[in-house]
Amino acid sequence: MKLKLTWIAQALLAFYACPSLCFQHVIPRNINQKPTQVIGGVTVIDTPLVRAAQAYARQVSANYLYNHIIRTWLFGALTISHNTTLQETVDLEVHALASILHDLGLVLNGTWITKERRFEVDSAETATSFVEDQLTYRDEAAEWDAHRLQLLFDSILLSSEPKFSLYKQATVAATVQGVLVDVGEAAYGITSTEYDNVEAAFPRLNFISGVNRTLVELCATKPNTTYDSWQQAFGDAFVPGYSAIGYRLFDVFH
Ligand SMILES: *[C@@H]1O[C@H](CO)[C@@H](O)[C@H](O)[C@H]1NC(C)=O
Ligand SMILES: *[C@@H]1O[C@H](CO)[C@@H](O)[C@H](O)[C@H]1NC(C)=O
Ligand SMILES: *[C@@H]1O[C@H](CO)[C@@H](O)[C@H](O)[C@H]1NC(C)=O
Ligand SMILES: *[C@@H]1O[C@H](CO)[C@@H](O)[C@H](O)[C@H]1NC(C)=O
Repeated sequence: MKLKLTWIAQALLAFYACPSLCFQHVIPRNINQKPTQVIGGVTVIDTPLVRAAQAYARQVSANYLYNHIIRTWLFGALTISHNTTLQETVDLEVHALASILHDLGLVLNGTWITKERRFEVDSAETATSFVEDQLTYRDEAAEWDAHRLQLLFDSILLSSEPKFSLYKQATVAATVQGVLVDVGEAAYGITSTEYDNVEAAFPRLNFISGVNRTLVELCATKPNTTYDSWQQAFGDAFVPGYSAIGYRLFDVFH
């Protein structure tokens, strides 16, 4: 009885702590009760699926990109650890998988890269297929319903658009919060020591020039997917012959 009341109180708290219009999905109470491991000084969830995603990302990604996605995961995990509301509402395994797989669409030599979809869609599609494929032969299949797969898809799809994702489910928001800390600075209660430990374990390497090169190549090779997005600026600045004119909503009206 005592446990049950605690659970109801937690569920209510999760709803009432929700700012204005955002939607919070209250996660099943036991879903985050998993083994943990410590990476870069951060305690994170440790499941076979998370390990498989790490190995996959390591295998296909350039070093600068791999370190970025792992820092994104660790900064997101730190954000969650500093916030009791997030602890009650984030699905930690989905958050880990979303963070680790969120930039597969920037692995431009990947066989999964399409010509016609934004890179975030390539990332979300590829990541969700990867997890579905893993589930065909893993014991955890019973823990994965359509909702969790959708949450994974959406967390990745919106991982580059904080103007939307910060107002979505806590898992979606925590994923982009990790990205924001990595491309910005320590925030959300993360201390400078925590930040430095993560950076020391997964150094930036040539992060700025690597991202720049990748985004320039993205604009050169799939220009139609970059018009009217934040990626467009890289094409405008650095890709000869690149022009969004004719492809913007503005052009439809004029
Ligand atoms: C893409 O190239 C990187 C080197 O930049 C390499 O490490 C990685 O394995 C390649 N990925 C694929 C999917 O071929
Ligand atoms: C914790 O996260 C919730 C949901 O994102 C947010 O509304 C709240 O302001 C955060 N609390 C603190 C102390 O940062
Ligand atoms: C980005 O790439 C362009 C084109 O190669 C280059 O001219 C520019 O200096 C690069 N910027 C950074 C910060 O690496
Ligand atoms: C870009 O879109 C235009 C108009 O829909 C189309 O004609 C063109 O073939 C597309 N280019 C590429 C590279 O997909």
